[in-house]
Amino acid sequence: MAKPYPSELVRTLTLRDGTRVVVRPIRPEDRQIEKEFVQELSNESKYFRFMSGLRELSEAMLNRFTQIDYDRELALIAMVCENAKETEIGVARYVVNADNISCEFAVAVADAWQNRGVGTALILGLAAAARARGLRTMEGIVVARNSKMLGLMNALGFSVRAEPGDPSIRHVTKQLDMTSSASIRASSAAPL
Ligand SMILES: CC(C)(COP(=O)(O)OP(=O)(O)OC[C@H]1O[C@@H](n2cnc3c(N)ncnc32)[C@H](O)[C@@H]1OP(=O)(O)O)[C@@H](O)C(=O)NCCC(=O)NCCS
Repeated sequence: MAKPYPSELVRTLTLRDGTRVVVRPIRPEDRQIEKEFVQELSNESKYFRFMSGLRELSEAMLNRFTQIDYDRELALIAMVCENAKETEIGVARYVVNADNISCEFAVAVADAWQNRGVGTALILGLAAAARARGLRTMEGIVVARNSKMLGLMNALGFSVRAEPGDPSIRHVTKQLDMTSSASIRASSAAPL
């Protein structure tokens, strides 16, 4: 059964350039901004996120990405106000695995907003929410040539391992009970 909207996960953070960013769980009404966010990603960012030549989200994917139950699945979006319009600049999501103690996650930040601490803040926020949900492990699959994501994973204390038989991907894993501010490199964004 779907949980109520988890408003306790709404946060405001300030990037090092002073930009204020609201990070909040996604809502069904965010369908259009989520669609625009993915449309605007560069081809490389889309490939790194979706591992395919996807150009835009299908209607079914948009439903799945925005109509979540906040229990088996959580998506946090990062929003800024630009020219009096709310724009999505990043999203991180997890889906709980069948074992109910681990989850698979993915993240994407708009190209123009990369390297400003948004990805770090989203991953830390997602990890904190997963840990609060009782999950113990967060894992993901990263394209092997995605050096930025792998560098970030390393900095955030994820272990990175090769996939036997598939040199094009890496598995990343983090034990959430070991996640602490001390184990995480200082972030450019205020901690969530
Ligand atoms: C990977 C991604 C999510 C990172 O988001 P971001 O907002 O750019 O990340 P941040 O700014 O928080 O952090 C990037 C950090 O990694 C560091 N970094 C970049 N490349 C690095 C490398 N090769 N090794 C070590 N660190 C590296 C940067 O210096 C930066 O650190 P700083 O903020 O302390 O200066 C973003 O680039 C993205 O959306 N890429 C396309 C989609 C994607 O790859 N998703 C991952 C699929 S699971």
